Amino acid sequence: MTLTHPTVAVDSLAQTTPSHEKVLIVTGERSGLMITVAVHSTRLGQALGGARLWQYANWTDAVADALRLSAAMTLKNAAAGLRRGGGKSVIYLPLGTVLTDALKRLAMLDLGDAIESLGGAFMTAEDVGTSAELMAIVAERTSHVCGLPAAIGGVGEPAEATAAGVYASIESTLEALFGSRDVRGRHLVISGLGQVGGRLSTALAAAGATLTVTDINPDKRALADALGASWVSVADAHRVHADLFVPCGLGGVLTKEVIAELNVLGVCGAANNQLASPAGATLLDARGILWAPDFVVNAGGVVYLDLASEPNADLGQISARVAAIGSVLSQIFADARANEITTLAAAERLAAARLNAAR
Ligand SMILES: NC(=O)c1ccc[n+]([C@@H]2O[C@H](COP(=O)([O-])OP(=O)(O)OC[C@H]3O[C@@H](n4cnc5c(N)ncnc54)[C@H](O)[C@@H]3O)[C@@H](O)[C@H]2O)c1
Repeated sequence: MTLTHPTVAVDSLAQTTPSHEKVLIVTGERSGLMITVAVHSTRLGQALGGARLWQYANWTDAVADALRLSAAMTLKNAAAGLRRGGGKSVIYLPLGTVLTDALKRLAMLDLGDAIESLGGAFMTAEDVGTSAELMAIVAERTSHVCGLPAAIGGVGEPAEATAAGVYASIESTLEALFGSRDVRGRHLVISGLGQVGGRLSTALAAAGATLTVTDINPDKRALADALGASWVSVADAHRVHADLFVPCGLGGVLTKEVIAELNVLGVCGAANNQLASPAGATLLDARGILWAPDFVVNAGGVVYLDLASEPNADLGQISARVAAIGSVLSQIFADARANEITTLAAAERLAAARLNAAR
């Protein structure tokens, strides 16, 4: 099969400022595919980040994506209070690669060898283009992988925990805006009804929120109908007059143009790297739109993967840690307000403080 998704827009390598501890680039000896494993920081512990299998126009875009995403994982893991550093692995598929199950298997074995060669600096898990089942193949070559299928004793996929963390974050965003965490009667626009957005919409509808939803996949309209949600086109979603915009599709959605047209008081969603450029945080602030930093909001999955993989993991404690993402966000909003800085700056400051405390 050929991947039909659009390629992810990334900065070119020349525009990236690397500050990484280690970057490994290898050509898989079985698959022939180029694999980048970027270890951004192990200051807080073994780096943890997803394994992305994706098409890019150039190999430099794949490396740039790994560098950027691994740095973001350092912030995410630190802000979530995990004893984990940041890293990411990216398998580069040249445009037009025919991705068979056999090739995926070879790529996962090669990825396992690459990770093993780092001697425990990095642990991976599923990400865009991979799955718990593919992680089980990685595990044939290294023990530094988590999120294996429950059927073989693993902790499974993290979307449920990610959705729970986004839900807690939405409550905190509403509290900052309206003085109440109650979602009942609030109007939310959810863009992207996948693993996370689908679960989130279901939970919000059950709690009495008014939903307008969209997805590039028209089949998702069935879920909208089942939830009693209004459907809007992808192009118009960000213009809907509502309380919150909730991006749960791909990254880069908050461009200068989209920010100028938003008709909400806040943005809080699961999508990674929502800001097309860091300047977007200032633009949102200038428009009086409260932005909940994505790497704080969507940390529920990595919190789950990290804690559930520990021996004697306690599911009640894990749920409490995921729900605490809402409290971290409230702290970030308060810091931003008190010091007249953007919520992005406040979130980066929180992560930096945790990193510096570990020096
Ligand atoms: N799954 C997790 O645990 C997790 C953890 C952290 C962050 N995230 C991030 O959350 C987002 C969603 O993750 P997911 O696991 O639900 O992915 P998914 O692939 O299951 O779902 C994404 C959905 O968004 C839709 N979509 C894609 N582009 C869109 C667009 N431009 N407009 C509207 N809809 C669009 C897709 O059709 C799909 O239904 C991603 O950005 C992901 O990186 C997910």
